Amino acid sequence: MTRSLILTRMGATPEPGLAELPPREPGPGELRIAIDAAALNPLDAKLARGHLADWFPIVLPWVPGTDFAGRVAAVGAGVTGFAPGDEVFGRSDPVAGGAFGPAITLPAGFVARRPAGIVAATAAALVTPAAIALQALDEVAGADGPLVILGSGAVGTALVQIARHGRAVTISGRHAARLAAPGVQVLAAEGGGLTAAIAGAGVVIDTVGGPRQRQVLARLRPGARFLAIAEPLPEDAAVPAGVEAGFAALAGGGGQLDRIAGLAADGVLVPEIANRFGIGDVAAVFSTWTAGRLPARQVMVREG
Ligand SMILES: NC(=O)c1ccc[n+]([C@@H]2O[C@H](COP(=O)([O-])OP(=O)(O)OC[C@H]3O[C@@H](n4cnc5c(N)ncnc54)[C@H](OP(=O)(O)O)[C@@H]3O)[C@@H](O)[C@H]2O)c1
Repeated sequence: MTRSLILTRMGATPEPGLAELPPREPGPGELRIAIDAAALNPLDAKLARGHLADWFPIVLPWVPGTDFAGRVAAVGAGVTGFAPGDEVFGRSDPVAGGAFGPAITLPAGFVARRPAGIVAATAAALVTPAAIALQALDEVAGADGPLVILGSGAVGTALVQIARHGRAVTISGRHAARLAAPGVQVLAAEGGGLTAAIAGAGVVIDTVGGPRQRQVLARLRPGARFLAIAEPLPEDAAVPAGVEAGFAALAGGGGQLDRIAGLAADGVLVPEIANRFGIGDVAAVFSTWTAGRLPARQVMVREG
């Protein structure tokens, strides 16, 4: 593949297309990676729709895509630990994007080695969901009591897969049944079982967001933690006395990618991939994804 997905406008119908773009040579501290796989995230759709512009000031034209796996193609001055041909994976800064193309040039700190046996599509599918899951679980590591996870998409799946090895976990969602495993309680997305689980929770991690955030907060007991991942709490949200509530924004760094590689190599993190497609279909898939009509995870793989 030599073409890149490109957006020349944002909004409800961003009209993505394909364009031949020259690869950028790596500067000091950078790597150029030949892309073998790239995964779509809800963030890609939010950015294309023009949301979150205060946090992510995108400049058009823009090549979307943060999560990728591939091979090192060129090494910039001062970079150690990587050589051409190394199998790697990583996450670009969302403003820079660039994963949905033939190659990406970015700081070496945004890249890690891919373990043997973890194919490119698997690694690409893990990056953002596993990274925010690790960060969220680190943030609540000191909190006691049952852990309740709301939402069974890619982030909910990564949270369950990691957390169940250390503590009792409850997962609730419309698609949560597939996550049943030893140490995991599966509940429907609504109902008395979930209400009781939230009332007894030490920690609730919410990957769904929306108006239900307020209801969940109101049910928490003093001492409980609430961590929002899908979106920040509304400014006027009522947080009960004794409840600690906050939002986790993916920070990256801190060896996160190496931890993800280790958990994938150990079989702890296993992403589910709904659809694999080639660069020729990326514009159509991106449009449908942006319209919110596709299940996660959608992964572009290199043809041939
Ligand atoms: N704060 C951050 O830095 C950060 C980082 C990553 C993601 N996020 C945000 O977190 C939220 C969740 O991300 P995600 O990657 O988990 O999204 P996702 O995989 O697209 O899941 C979103 C929802 O889709 C539903 N779903 C799951 N499997 C499905 C299937 N097979 N068919 C149809 N629907 C299905 C789930 O609903 P049910 O729960 O009902 O099953 C899930 O809650 C998004 O808003 C994302 O932008 C934030």
